[in-house]
Amino acid sequence: MPESSLDALAHELEAFRSSMQQLQKIVAESQNKQARQGDLVSSLADLENVLIAASATMTPHVSEMARSAFKKLQSSLGVYSQPEDHELLQVCSRLSVQGDSIFKRVGTMLRIMNSPANANGIILAQEEERKRISREIHDGPAQTLASLTMRIDYCLEQTGLPTPLVDELKELKETVIRSLKDIRRFIFDLRPMALDDLGLLPTLEQFISGFKNRTGVPVYVDTDGEHEFLGAERELAVFRVIQEATNNALKHSNPVSVHIFLKFDARKQRLSVVIKDDGCGFDVAETRRKYGNLKKLGLISMEERVRLSGGEFTIVSDSGTGTVVSFWVPLG
Ligand SMILES: Nc1ncnc2c1ncn2[C@@H]1O[C@H](COP(=O)(O)OP(=O)(O)O)[C@@H](O)[C@H]1O
Ligand SMILES: [Mg+2]
Repeated sequence: MPESSLDALAHELEAFRSSMQQLQKIVAESQNKQARQGDLVSSLADLENVLIAASATMTPHVSEMARSAFKKLQSSLGVYSQPEDHELLQVCSRLSVQGDSIFKRVGTMLRIMNSPANANGIILAQEEERKRISREIHDGPAQTLASLTMRIDYCLEQTGLPTPLVDELKELKETVIRSLKDIRRFIFDLRPMALDDLGLLPTLEQFISGFKNRTGVPVYVDTDGEHEFLGAERELAVFRVIQEATNNALKHSNPVSVHIFLKFDARKQRLSVVIKDDGCGFDVAETRRKYGNLKKLGLISMEERVRLSGGEFTIVSDSGTGTVVSFWVPLG
């Protein structure tokens, strides 16, 4: 995004805030408008929150919140449109003009930020960064730990060591091996190299078996149809969405089990995937509404990846039956 538009937005937000403060002062001073004052002050507080959110994070939900809070404010301001309130009217009309311009600008920025080219750029940059971190961990701490186990072996080979020291060294080696396993899992999660070497299904099996070992939660995978190569980018997208949905199930729903279905449909030329947990479920609409404030990325990035792959994504959740994430991407 061009820096000048951000600067301009910041400038306008500042002007808008100072007009609001002025308005609040006038309202507070007019004793006989007490009843309407509460209404206006609460609208202004709503709007203030929206503006804070808008300047920090720009998602479609923020834009929606902004629009409805702004409407509320305008209707509250309407109550004040008495001819005798000259000063107030002046501030109000300035507010309206500034508000319109801000939301137009926010709208333009949202369009830029939500454009596929930009989303694709963000996701690619994220994958590049993950690759870099995984390489650094692989070449740094993972190598160091591996060489530590060899050095412990060397110590253990020495004769005449007191038994307590031998026990301590053995325990130390166990601990190092456990840490090495954890680190290898981080490396895998950051960038499953197997995806490039072996393809989607073997990588998925590797992920699921690690997941089961680590968490004790059974994950069942069913596939249907002739497996087709989707292209490197799409395979990565499919893997990432399954990874996020499965991790979400574990992290948020306390499930008894997780089921994953993959259907390679040659007739429709689609790969359809369903990830289903039998956990506590959640209110999808409410979560989406609050998403901008929660600073979460999982659901959005799943949707974006599927959309950029040319497919469709849905998530349905119910406190009685758990959560079902489904999506499809084109084959070939
Ligand atoms: N399978 C699930 N079961 C229950 N709640 C879920 C599930 N998936 C997502 N959620 C809810 O949706 C929220 C947003 O998910 P996400 O965007 O992945 O963020 P994060 O995993 O970082 O919290 C979660 O914080 C959680 O409350
Ligand atoms: Mg998540």
